[in-house]
This record gives sequence, structure tokens and C-alpha cells, in this order.
Amino acid sequence: MKTVAIIGCGQLAMMMAQAAKKIGLHVSFVAYDNEDVRSVSNLGKIVRYSRGKSVAKLFKDLGEPEVVTVEREQVDVSLLHELSDFCQVHPNPDAVKVTQNRIYEKELLQHFGFAVAPYKKIRNVDDLLCAFTSLYPPLFVKHPTSGYDGKNQWRLNSIGDLEKITIPEKSFPLVAEEKVPFLYEASLIAARSKAGEIRYYPPTVNEHKDGILLKSYTTDNKKINRQILPARKIMATLLEHWDYVGVLSLELFCTEDGLIVNELAPRVHNSGHWTMDGCSCSQFENHIRAITGKKLGDTKAQFPAGMVNLLGVDSAPKQFTSNSKIYWYNKTPLPKRKMGHINIVDEDNVQLEEKQNFLIQEIYSNSELPKKSA
Ligand SMILES: Nc1ncnc2c1ncn2[C@@H]1O[C@H](COP(=O)(O)OP(=O)(O)O)[C@@H](O)[C@H]1O
Ligand SMILES: [Mg+2]
Repeated sequence: MKTVAIIGCGQLAMMMAQAAKKIGLHVSFVAYDNEDVRSVSNLGKIVRYSRGKSVAKLFKDLGEPEVVTVEREQVDVSLLHELSDFCQVHPNPDAVKVTQNRIYEKELLQHFGFAVAPYKKIRNVDDLLCAFTSLYPPLFVKHPTSGYDGKNQWRLNSIGDLEKITIPEKSFPLVAEEKVPFLYEASLIAARSKAGEIRYYPPTVNEHKDGILLKSYTTDNKKINRQILPARKIMATLLEHWDYVGVLSLELFCTEDGLIVNELAPRVHNSGHWTMDGCSCSQFENHIRAITGKKLGDTKAQFPAGMVNLLGVDSAPKQFTSNSKIYWYNKTPLPKRKMGHINIVDEDNVQLEEKQNFLIQEIYSNSELPKKSA
């Protein structure tokens, strides 16, 4: 039986592994030093690895996989290159290198003529002060490589905020972006096979709370779907540029003046978890199918579908909605940590939204509901 090795042991690795096993593949995992591996325990062999150890031994310990893939962008790109002497590595390590750095990402997008938020590279506090004159505040100041779920980013309304908000010196260099006046946020997820076939999932509208995804949903709103359609060209351009194999995700700001790319992820994406129940072939299965040279599965959605994230909570809502399914990641609870999610499908978009809002009320009864943005 063929083996797929996944670098990373979080929930994305867990759901990729479950999809791989479903289609008859073995899975093994690379865990870095102190990485929590509870999400993937029982799904395959876990090999601890730290820089400097033999890659040949790692390959052997992983069960000599046919292909290695990643569950996150922050992996050691040189390890990916070294592993490619032993087996296939998908996606292309160059795609991982670019997408793990916000500046490289923006430069590539601009190279192809795609819009990104106006930004400046920030080497030090002086650059940051200058950014308040060369860009229109408010500014989002972000670490170029280490950030997720809104971490390592600072929102500065005016230069005066620099006195209230301390950005640790070790965080520089940074990138400062103008706040995008978006109508709503969206994402597009697609898979590309080894033969070069591209299949797009229906885009989702995404709502965040404190920089963390709270809910995603497909929509039958024609205007919104029309607005997001140009993202297919961005997706196809990037996939072909990298001769990409696997799933790629685009996070988008949809504005009055068109799409602005927020960031890219060389992997399956939280806003695509609904595909586990809303499509005959989930984003996880299609990623595995692509990297193992299989034909891609169907990406159409039969019904409107969506997802609500379980952030920092470890118990199910007391009242549940119909056609909804809960998934837990087997992680230790921490405030705002992604502990699981609920997928919902419904024949009707209005009812889908009602169910999502009901679940959010049930789960986060003491917190403020996110603003409706679309
Ligand atoms: N330039 C921006 N303008 C408006 N909102 C932003 C901007 N940058 C980030 N955000 C908000 O913060 C969220 C998280 O930021 P993002 O850059 O996607 O980082 P992360 O890697 O943490 O997901 C975005 O989904 C969006 O809601
Ligand atoms: Mg993001």
C-alpha cells in the first residue's frame, strides 16, 4: 500500500489523513520537536524530527512514502528540497517558500498584476513612522512569516497608537498594510492534478472574529458569486506558475472596486471544511488524490453549505440544528484555539444562515455576535 507523509500533526493533517485512509492509503507524519500530536494519534506513524537530523533516516522512518505534503506553510523549505531527493514533494517547495512570506506573496501577485492592499516593508520603528505618511491609516502591521489566526499582527488607527501598543523589537522586519474597506471577505479553494486539471470549489464568504475565522458559507447570491469569479484567474495563474499539484487556497477582500488578495495558503483551508459534507469529494480527499496522481473528484456543491468554528470551547452546543455535523480535533482547550467545527448543509441559503447564527449563539452565548458583513 502506498504511503503519504504529512509534515505537521494538527487538524488539517488529521482530516487529510482520514481522507487518505478512506481511499486506501497509508499515512505517516512528521512532528517538529515539541509539536502536539494528539489530533493524529492512531492515524499513522508519527516521526519526531529536528533540523540537522538525517533526512535519509527520516524518509525511512516515515515508511518510504511515495509523496510528502504539508499541512501548513511554515515548514523548513530546505527540508522539502532534501526530501525531494527521495520521493515526490507536493506542493512545489517554491510555492511553500513564497506563501510562507507575506512580502514574497505580495510581490508575486503584483508581478502578475493582481491587486493587494497598499503596503510598505518595515525594517524598524522609523519606517513604521514613515508608513503613517506614505499609507492611509488605519494600518495592519503584520509579521511577514509567523502569523496565523490574527497572531503577530497589530492594528494601528493612528500614529498615536504607537505609544499604546508595543511591538516587540524582535518582531521586525514587518509589513504594514492599509486597512481594506471590504464589503465582505471570501476565499477560493481549488485543486490541480498532476495532469494539470484544475477544479474549483464554490467560493465561500467568511466572517472573522478578532482575526480568527468564525464562519464560512457558500452563497446563492449571484452578485457575490460574480464578484468573486475573477479569483479563478488569479488561482489558475498561480497554479500554473508553480506547476502546482494539490490544493491551493486564496483569501480575498471583496471591495466596491474589485478583489484584493489578502493571503495565500499552499494547503487545504479552514474555510473549506464544509466540503466534507457539502461535496462528494472534500478538499482533503482532492488534495490527496492530486498528490498521489489520481483523477480529481467532483467539487460541485449539491446544496448551500457552511461551517462554524468551535473556538476555545470543548463541549457541543446544547441545542443542535438539523443536517449539521460536529468534528472535534482532540486538542487541549486554550482560549480561541480551534478545537473543532460544525458543518451545516441546507436546501436554502436563508435557513443555512439562520442555523449558523443559532449555533453561534448557542456556542458563544456570552460573547458578541460578529457583524453581518455581506
Ligand atoms: N489589510 C487589512 N484590511 C482589513 N482587514 C484585514 C487586513 N488584514 C487583515 N485583516 C483582517 O484580519 C484577518 C486576519 O488577517 P490575515 O492577514 O488573514 O492573517 P492570518 O494569517 O492571521 O489569517 C483577516 O481575515 C481580516 O479579517
Ligand atoms: Mg488569513
